[in-house]
Amino acid sequence: MRPPSPDGPSPGSGSLLAVSDLHVRYPENRAVVEALRPVSDEDWLLVAGDVAEHMADVEWALSTLARRFRKVVWAPGNHELWTPPDDPVQERGAARYEALVRLCRELGVTTPEDPYPVWRGPGGPAVVVPLFLLYDHTFRRPGVRTAEEALRRADEAGVVATDVFLLHPDPYPTVADWCRARLRRTAERLDALPADLPTVLVNHFPLVREPTEVLRYPDFALWCGTEATADWPVRYRAAAVVYGHLHIPKLIRQQGVPHHEVSLGYPREWRRRPGAPALPVRVLPAGAPYPGHPAATAPAAAGGPR
Ligand SMILES: [Fe+2]
Ligand SMILES: [Fe+2]
Repeated sequence: MRPPSPDGPSPGSGSLLAVSDLHVRYPENRAVVEALRPVSDEDWLLVAGDVAEHMADVEWALSTLARRFRKVVWAPGNHELWTPPDDPVQERGAARYEALVRLCRELGVTTPEDPYPVWRGPGGPAVVVPLFLLYDHTFRRPGVRTAEEALRRADEAGVVATDVFLLHPDPYPTVADWCRARLRRTAERLDALPADLPTVLVNHFPLVREPTEVLRYPDFALWCGTEATADWPVRYRAAAVVYGHLHIPKLIRQQGVPHHEVSLGYPREWRRRPGAPALPVRVLPAGAPYPGHPAATAPAAAGGPR
C-alpha cells in the first residue's frame, strides 16, 4: 500500500463519492451506513446533510465513516439543525450549527467553516466546497410574488415543513435572514478561489429549482433552496453539484453541469426502489458507476423534501 500523500490522492487512484439523507435514527439506515465502505484507500466521501436529528446519532454516523474514508466532507441538512425536544443537546440555530462544526472537527470531518480541500485524484483537480446556505422561500409558484403570500398559501393548502417547528434561526429573525447572511459570506469565499480551478459544490438543498418541480406537494419547494444560487454552478466553475433533501435520487444536467441528488432517504422510500440502495454515488471521475454498489440507478419518484 502506498503511503498517504499530504495533499490528497495522487492522480490515477480513488474516487470522489457522495451520499446524503442517511437518517440514521432508522435501524435499517444504520445498517446501510455500516455497509458503506470505500473501494480504494484514496476514496473521499461527501455527506450532503440529513445524517440525523440527535447529536449522538450524527456523531456515530460521521465517526463511523471518518474511520473508513480517506476524507469525509460534511454539509449540514435541515435535520441536523433541528432541536428535537428529546435530544439532550438543546442548542438552537447558529449555536447548534457551531456545535456540529466542533463535533466534525473533533472527528476530522471537513465542514463549511474549514479551508476547502482540493480533490487531486481522477477527474480533478477540483475544490470541494461544502455549503451551508439554507432557504429563503424564493422557490415560489408562478405569479406568487412574496414569501409571505407563498407561505400563507402553503398554510391554507395544509403544507408546512417540520422545520417551522424544530429548526430555530436564532439569533436571526428568520431562516431566510440566516440564509441571506450565509449567501453573502459564502459568495465572498467562492469569489476568492483561483479562477482556473473547477469546483465541486456540495449543498443539502438543490442549487437550482428544477429538481423541485416534480414534488408531490409543490409548495414544499418553499423550504428547498434559494433562487440566489441559480447561477452559482456556472459562475463558480462546478465540475459537479451534489445535493440531497428531496429524497429523489437522480442525475440532471443544467447548463452542462451534472447535479447529483445522492439521498438514501427513509426506509419506506428506498425499499420501494428496485435493488439495494445505489450508494455511494461517484461524482469524480465522471461517467462510470462506482464499483462498490449496484449499478442500477433508482428511478425518480415524486417524493417530498425531508
Ligand atoms: Fe433535508
Ligand atoms: Fe432528508
